[in-house]
Amino acid sequence: MEIEQVKKRIEELKALINRYNYEYYVLDQPTVSDYEYDQLMKELIELETKYPEFQTEDSPTRRVGGMVLDQFEKVVHRTPMLSLSNAFSEGDIRQFDQRVREVIPHPVYVCELKIDGLACSLEYEQGILKRAATRGDGMVGEDITHNILTIKSVPLKLRDPVTIDVRGEVFMPKAAFEQLNREREANHLSLFANPRNAAAGSVRQLDSKIAAERKLDMFLYQLPDALSLGIKTHSAALDYLDDLGFKTNPHRRVCHNVEDVLDYIREWTERKHDLPYEIDGLVIKVDDLEAQALLGVTTKSPKWAIAYKFPAEEVTTVLKDIVFNVGRTGAITPLAILEPVQIMGTTVQRATLHNEDFIRHRDIRIGGKVIIRKAGYIIPEVVGPVKDEQYDTLPTFTMITHCPACGSRLVRNEGEADHYCTNRNCPAQMVEALIHFASRPAMNIEGLGEKICALLFDRGLVKKLSDLYRLTGEDLSSLPKFKEKSIHNLLIAIEKSKENSLERLLFGLGIRYVGEKASLLLAKHFQSLDSLAQATYDDLIRIPEIGDVIAQSVIHYFRLEENRALIQELKDLGVNMEYRGEKTIEAESFSGKTFVLTGTLSAFKRDEAKAFIERLGGKVTSSVSKNTDVVIAGAEAGSKLSRAQALGIEIWDEETFLQRLEPFRSVGKRK
Ligand code: IVH
Repeated sequence: MEIEQVKKRIEELKALINRYNYEYYVLDQPTVSDYEYDQLMKELIELETKYPEFQTEDSPTRRVGGMVLDQFEKVVHRTPMLSLSNAFSEGDIRQFDQRVREVIPHPVYVCELKIDGLACSLEYEQGILKRAATRGDGMVGEDITHNILTIKSVPLKLRDPVTIDVRGEVFMPKAAFEQLNREREANHLSLFANPRNAAAGSVRQLDSKIAAERKLDMFLYQLPDALSLGIKTHSAALDYLDDLGFKTNPHRRVCHNVEDVLDYIREWTERKHDLPYEIDGLVIKVDDLEAQALLGVTTKSPKWAIAYKFPAEEVTTVLKDIVFNVGRTGAITPLAILEPVQIMGTTVQRATLHNEDFIRHRDIRIGGKVIIRKAGYIIPEVVGPVKDEQYDTLPTFTMITHCPACGSRLVRNEGEADHYCTNRNCPAQMVEALIHFASRPAMNIEGLGEKICALLFDRGLVKKLSDLYRLTGEDLSSLPKFKEKSIHNLLIAIEKSKENSLERLLFGLGIRYVGEKASLLLAKHFQSLDSLAQATYDDLIRIPEIGDVIAQSVIHYFRLEENRALIQELKDLGVNMEYRGEKTIEAESFSGKTFVLTGTLSAFKRDEAKAFIERLGGKVTSSVSKNTDVVIAGAEAGSKLSRAQALGIEIWDEETFLQRLEPFRSVGKRK
């Protein structure tokens, strides 16, 4: 093929594939077979591989995945990503309407579904997707472009070459979530609690292959700069997003008074389970964008919108049995085994009963009916018994006296609600301790979930925590379904965990009452495990936020010979025992400094540049004085620049400014 023809064919293929993608993933109206689509994609990949000079940013081959990052880059949002305040009742909605009407006498509202996923911002430059970021703390998020590219409904190229930010919700459809968990179960991996966690877990991956496999989707719901584009209402902004090729949620409705809003709420409270994705409520927004601006925002949320949260749902089922779980601290938790029941779209078979008192106070009896409550995909709980005729005939609950795992006598201390198994060699506790040690907030050993921990223990491969670091490939090859790749990955993950900063190890050791937060406080304060081990009660209690209970528990932990021996072993095996510092964003170039902007910047509008600086802790003033730290001079800077020069103030040109911002804006690089 002639070079010109190649170029033309590539353009043709890109246009076709992008169109088919749109038809399939946005409109849900495919017009070609999967086979045809795959053939076109194959041809494009071949041509682009042969002629890499024709690869462009709108090429669907970018979606395949494969980009692997070392770390997530920070992204400062051009406008803060706010969250919403919540309403839980009709009354709350009426109050919201009242507050709005104090400022806007006849508001029009747009009602939308509140998609249960995670907020994400997309930046397009001249119609091309350049960057995608998580919400983060609302000011600074993380660059997840590599993963968002894999979401087929997100356009790589817009119909108009506009430079805009858009925001929306990345989510995992219910069916994809259920299938993913089925696969994970088969592979002995820990299960995701709900579609939102699964979606969040997928976009927080450094390797985009994982996101590419996860069937994520995205609805766009906000165009922050709509007014400056000449758009007058939120509903028109959503229509415009449709026109640009984005996927917006079709179930929005414009309501002209609060009664219509309440009708929408009633309707969707009924219909919410019919959707193929989870919603955790509804969002009500003032439609008129100038009215929105008049109403304004608080530090956390806009005053022109509110989220209506669905109430938790309750159902009745039969309590078939009560079993007892032994936790890593030896605490015994009674668990309800239920006649399977559907609640909020999922089947529930188990629910926690917390402790003996919980069951006694409610007088919950095996064999009787109970009320179960669940909000979202959150762990279901037993509300109480249904006291029908049969109820009186059932025996009352009696607490077990011996550990179901090792048979030791249980202890319940004065003033405590839980029963404990105090046998330190209790196998159930050991497995739980191992699961906790490997878990994400602790040593974060990927691939070492509940099932594998239990297997390792049952096979005698790990008898205590330190044995983890003695595992060999041969040991692992004896486990079912463990192939070369999974063995290799697990060994690497274990090895990597040796480098963790102290707070992870500390949390992982499972010292009673020492949670994630206390672990971090202690690690920061003592810097090494050795000095923590030598700390006295007084040393500990002196730390703000460390109270008597934690201090006692830490002292007790290090007093025990077996714990000291475990730590020595971990140390000998190469596990890091030092605090390595928190990952914070380094904004020294901006933080605490006073800036003046002058001249024209080409990459930003003036107020965007200002917002960046402010979000990184700097201040922007309008006139140059001896208190000015830096003057940022764009093109055709005038008197302010000369004044800065005269005063000997540091001057950055746009290039320098961009360089300093780079750590907070740059797109992930290929490895
Ligand atoms: S509007 C400033 N609309 O809910 C307004 N949010 O608690 C920003 N969400 O962080 C949000 N569906 O992640 C909006 N249709 C919708 C939404 C929605 C889901 C999420 C979003 C936001 C959170 C607010």
